[in-house]
Amino acid sequence: MTDPSAAPRAFPTDFVFGAATAAFQIEGAHHLDGRTDSIWDAFCRVPGAVINGDDGSVACDHYHRYADDVALMAELGIQSYRFSTSWARIRPDGGPVNPAGLDFYSRLVDELLEHGILPWLTLYHWDLPQAIEEQGGWRNRDTAYRFRDYALDVHARLGDRVPVWTTLNEPWCTAFVGHIAGAHAPGMQDPAAGLAAMHHVLLGHGLAVQALRSAQSNLTLGLTLNLTVAVPVDPSRSEDIDAARRIDGQFNRIFLDPIFRGDYPADVLADVAGLGLEQVVQPGDLATISTPIDVLGVNYYQGQAVSDLPPDQPLGTEAPTDRPVRSPFPAADGIYSHPQGLPTTAMGWEIQPDGLRDLLIRVHAEYADPAGVDLYVTENGVAFDDQAAPDGSVSDPDRTAFIAAHLNAVLDAIEAGVPLRGYFYWSLMDNFEWAWGYAKRFGIVRVDYETQQRTVKESGRAYAQIIADRSL
Ligand code: GCO
Repeated sequence: MTDPSAAPRAFPTDFVFGAATAAFQIEGAHHLDGRTDSIWDAFCRVPGAVINGDDGSVACDHYHRYADDVALMAELGIQSYRFSTSWARIRPDGGPVNPAGLDFYSRLVDELLEHGILPWLTLYHWDLPQAIEEQGGWRNRDTAYRFRDYALDVHARLGDRVPVWTTLNEPWCTAFVGHIAGAHAPGMQDPAAGLAAMHHVLLGHGLAVQALRSAQSNLTLGLTLNLTVAVPVDPSRSEDIDAARRIDGQFNRIFLDPIFRGDYPADVLADVAGLGLEQVVQPGDLATISTPIDVLGVNYYQGQAVSDLPPDQPLGTEAPTDRPVRSPFPAADGIYSHPQGLPTTAMGWEIQPDGLRDLLIRVHAEYADPAGVDLYVTENGVAFDDQAAPDGSVSDPDRTAFIAAHLNAVLDAIEAGVPLRGYFYWSLMDNFEWAWGYAKRFGIVRVDYETQQRTVKESGRAYAQIIADRSL
């Protein structure tokens, strides 16, 4: 790795610096102007599902404060804002379009454009209308077609002003954390359900890309995947090598291959044999799923060293409450993730910036480059236990160092020949961190949930300086 203390390292002139959020995590106003429950509203009511009984009813009250939040982004020099639209706001209960719901996003987009910020829209960041869940949710093939229809509704209102459209955020979480681990809505623990959901979210992606492309040929279309770097704990042990292959398969390739190559990988199909995936795949589905895209967003938080032998010490935990949560993988029983002795975040996640470099180099070489697809980092960020001074200010040098280390990794990848187009920090502001509720803070802007006061953290100022300098 390049010595970060050396001479300044410049970013390409067209590199985009952004920040990301998601509807359910920030908007609040969960039953206002016609919005009805999403699966996350329902999941928050399950005892023990979310720490402290937190929910998204108010969140960061962004629904009412969006103009101030956009002004804050502009002050920081954020060039692009990645946000998601709420299906439950736009088609409450999965029913007819709710114009008042679309109005909110229209106001938000206008505000962004007035401040010179590029809107980057995600159609699905995990908040399925609860009424659709009650009809089988993503286990039901029909939901893929309803997703396409919803995509067209959003496009009909915003297509004139939003250039970048991504369908899904992290389908691995939708399918596997939601249906196998049970740690996310809808809280199921059934590998077959997870694989059916996986196939149907991917089908919904392909259908939506086709529909949006037909509706308007000049959109930039794609999706965001969360990817990992899985390495064997002991590269000389064949069991560890196979554990790494399985995790790579069930984390990365099970999504990358159908999207870029129109096939599920043969070794992964063998690993998940007997769990019903073949039965839900219909002729033509993989051609739909592999409809060409323009852009791939990569979300990266950490890699993992894996083995069939248990570690001496478990690494972090994904379960904030006593509610039992299982492994998110459909077929990875007997595989363990080992601590690599690196510093960890407040989530218990190890800090591994080199993994981001390695991941970008690999995804570029094996998938994006052959397909002519642009790569962005659409999420990377960190939770620490911030201590706020009485005035709300936060000194968070660890977060500043995290951002610098990962942007150095980005520059390493660029120097290695990856034409990475941009980086979005997760997240613009502290927000509802799913099962962790408001207990984990990822923002470069602090949110005081009592007063809804926003305060730019030191790391936010540091990020703004990097954007201004366009170098590290
Ligand atoms: C994610 C998410 C975010 C999380 C973040 C931190 O896509 O996993 O987009 O919603 O808050 O990853 O866990």
